[in-house]
Amino acid sequence: MDPELRDAARDLLIRYGQGETERLFVSSKGTVVRDDEGREILDFTSGQMCATLGHSHPAIVKAIRESSEDAIHLFSGMIPEQVVRLAKKLGEWLPAPLKRSMFVNTGSESNEIALRMAKMITGGYEVIALGGSWHGVTGQSAAASFASERRGYGPKVPGVSVIPEPYSYRCPIRHCRDKCDMSCMKVGLDLFDMASEGAPAAVIAEPILSAGGVIVPPDGYFQTLQKEAKSRGMMLIFDEAQTAFGRIGEKFAATGLGVTPDIMSVSKTLGGGLPLAATITTDEIEEQAHSRGFSYYTSHVSDPLPAAAGLAVLETIEKENLLKRAKELGAHLRGSLDALQQRYEVIGEIRGQGLLLGIDLVKDRESREPHLDLGDLTTRRCMELGLSMNIKRRPERGAVWRIAPPLTVTVDELDRGTDILDQALRESLDELSRRAS
Ligand SMILES: Cc1ncc(COP(=O)(O)O)c(C=O)c1O
Repeated sequence: MDPELRDAARDLLIRYGQGETERLFVSSKGTVVRDDEGREILDFTSGQMCATLGHSHPAIVKAIRESSEDAIHLFSGMIPEQVVRLAKKLGEWLPAPLKRSMFVNTGSESNEIALRMAKMITGGYEVIALGGSWHGVTGQSAAASFASERRGYGPKVPGVSVIPEPYSYRCPIRHCRDKCDMSCMKVGLDLFDMASEGAPAAVIAEPILSAGGVIVPPDGYFQTLQKEAKSRGMMLIFDEAQTAFGRIGEKFAATGLGVTPDIMSVSKTLGGGLPLAATITTDEIEEQAHSRGFSYYTSHVSDPLPAAAGLAVLETIEKENLLKRAKELGAHLRGSLDALQQRYEVIGEIRGQGLLLGIDLVKDRESREPHLDLGDLTTRRCMELGLSMNIKRRPERGAVWRIAPPLTVTVDELDRGTDILDQALRESLDELSRRAS
């Protein structure tokens, strides 16, 4: 441990909402990250949900090494072979008629592109997003995000409406309990219609609202949403930043749902830890956009190196059969968490799919009041005990752990993580009752 480096981290870096810098991190491999004291910490967040193959998977390392020998970066108008190879492989995975891709860096960007395209083609500017959504931090993506902090940054892009999210555990319109009947969508769309200035463009949604608390919409939700979007002349955009490429045991959430959006954005899980994102659409939409002069020209569009990593990600998922693995390991983890729920009244609900699970912590199961203090305390204790967990906490949307280990995690690592969670919960509850007495 280098105390000077720790001090420098505190003195020289801008804080961007990441919490206190108590330790620095030096390396990561597989499911394990190491801090500057040599402590090994199980990573149940897959980095920032990006390292689905585990950290520094040999296939990614190889692709980066080889590609960096060939080309790291080119003039944005030059299309590298690596990009075309990735587009071809992606084309094999995509549900028809989705086919054409463009490759950029972040999820925020891929949603900017999707929204720009939808606006250009429809000629409208009105966008509907779901409560609890997170589509990124750049202009239009931030305007369509409702799980992130919106205060203090000035006005957002106009034209965005929010409809209540299908969160049956804590129904935003106080109507359902445990089973969503989609009244939330109806109410939201009625309000949208009332406020619309007649310039509809797009509906954007995450198939599972992850940052909003791992909310899984009910069966039929997206079929209905797609119908409603179409009837208003709006394009349906799926933001599959977290759900694509195996995390939930499917190639895409769209394939599992049987709903193919007009435009899909993918990001986090495509790059194996490198910044890589894509906006994907059909021949017809691409042609319309192109004919209207669509452009999105950035320094790192179509960069070869991350594209090579993306190709390695898709090939490795196929080779290691990771879709199946996500389902099997997800079921194993779910079983262990269900057993914990039997013992802890504070675990109100466990939800999710594959290896994207959420644990909703409550003060009691009847009122379902979010247990924010317990969430904070236990997350901290988990880290001390060697488990990195991510808590999503908002008074209106709960204290929800998002558990998303790499798809390459072992059963032993999953069990160790659950044991740590058990110990941390027990100790944190003891601590809270000590404080209260
Ligand atoms: C569903 C979803 N979309 C978009 C984004 C934004 O991606 P990025 O942080 O890469 O810009 C995120 C990030 O958390 C996300 O979860």
